[in-house]
Amino acid sequence: MSTMFRPLLRMPRSRAHSTAIWRRTLATLNERTLHATPLGAVDGTFGAEVSGVDFSRPLPPPIAAEIVQLQNLYGVLVFRSTGLDDDAHVRYSKNFGALESIHGVNKPRRASSPHLYDAGNLDAEGNIIPKYSRAWWHSKGNGLWHTDSSFNQHRSSYSALRAVELPPRGGATMYADMRAAYDDLPASIKQDLDGKIAEHWIWHSRKLAAPQEFDKPTEQEKRAIPPAYHTLVQTAPDTTRKTLYIASHARRIVGMPERESTELIRYLLTHAQQPKYQVACQWKNVGDLVQWDNRCTMHRATAFEDQANRRDMRRTTVYDHGPYAFGVRLGLTEHDVDVLCGGSTDITAGPTPETQTQEQVQAL
Ligand SMILES: [Fe+2]
Repeated sequence: MSTMFRPLLRMPRSRAHSTAIWRRTLATLNERTLHATPLGAVDGTFGAEVSGVDFSRPLPPPIAAEIVQLQNLYGVLVFRSTGLDDDAHVRYSKNFGALESIHGVNKPRRASSPHLYDAGNLDAEGNIIPKYSRAWWHSKGNGLWHTDSSFNQHRSSYSALRAVELPPRGGATMYADMRAAYDDLPASIKQDLDGKIAEHWIWHSRKLAAPQEFDKPTEQEKRAIPPAYHTLVQTAPDTTRKTLYIASHARRIVGMPERESTELIRYLLTHAQQPKYQVACQWKNVGDLVQWDNRCTMHRATAFEDQANRRDMRRTTVYDHGPYAFGVRLGLTEHDVDVLCGGSTDITAGPTPETQTQEQVQAL
């Protein structure tokens, strides 16, 4: 590793400054109906368990606005025992924007709504997905640090994951605060990252997790989910802080030599997954719902006995409608397409924002 990427040993002033801004924002929130209990990591500023939402009724706009405020502050919100079913889960999520539809690559849709992504270990018939099947290998990528839909040109804002059936042990979801991770980067690295664009490709993370099985994605897989491009450093949704937008889907930094690009991505992912930036969500009850902001967090699934126990998890994913929603559209040359797609000529520069709002893919 080059000396440029040496980790920082103490908190820089910018991190303390960000924390001070965070506390001021919390103090200036209007009278709140909801109660948030921090999950504990990163000075109590990342992740909170929230009570006070009545999920049995349509969400009043002031409560939805309060959830957005809390989401901006904490990044990850845990709601216990919501009692939501599929329809109510979808209705709740629509309070925050239009929803992605699932693509069904490597795993046919099982849930009742096209807006519910099946994040469990069950196949279309509700049976446990067998070990070493394509779908089983595909799910291994969920264990890498990532953010949902960064491989889509129209990315997502929130994911809302609901427990329908839980294993007796294991299966916690881990989250990392990408604002705090950015704050702690050395100034020289921050300067170097400014304006850089990362290419996100889901088949890259599949290959990282299952090198043999996903050494070469199929033509159908490549056609279904082409690469997407997003700036590496962004303003966080609360607009007071910057955040790192990276994931295990990140295959390269546009314009950098391959070796440097790979080294930089590895450095940033390693930096961001330090325990001090993490919180763990332990799934306790059927109906628990965790909603996180993909624009300023990463997450990963943890292991459970997936051949002995059923785990039924369903997720809605909300389209981002902020300033970075559509990432950066690059005009790809024929050579670029060849490099990106391993010789396939089926992938173009990517859908336009207009078509993406109508037709979008979802995975993870
Ligand atoms: Fe995910």
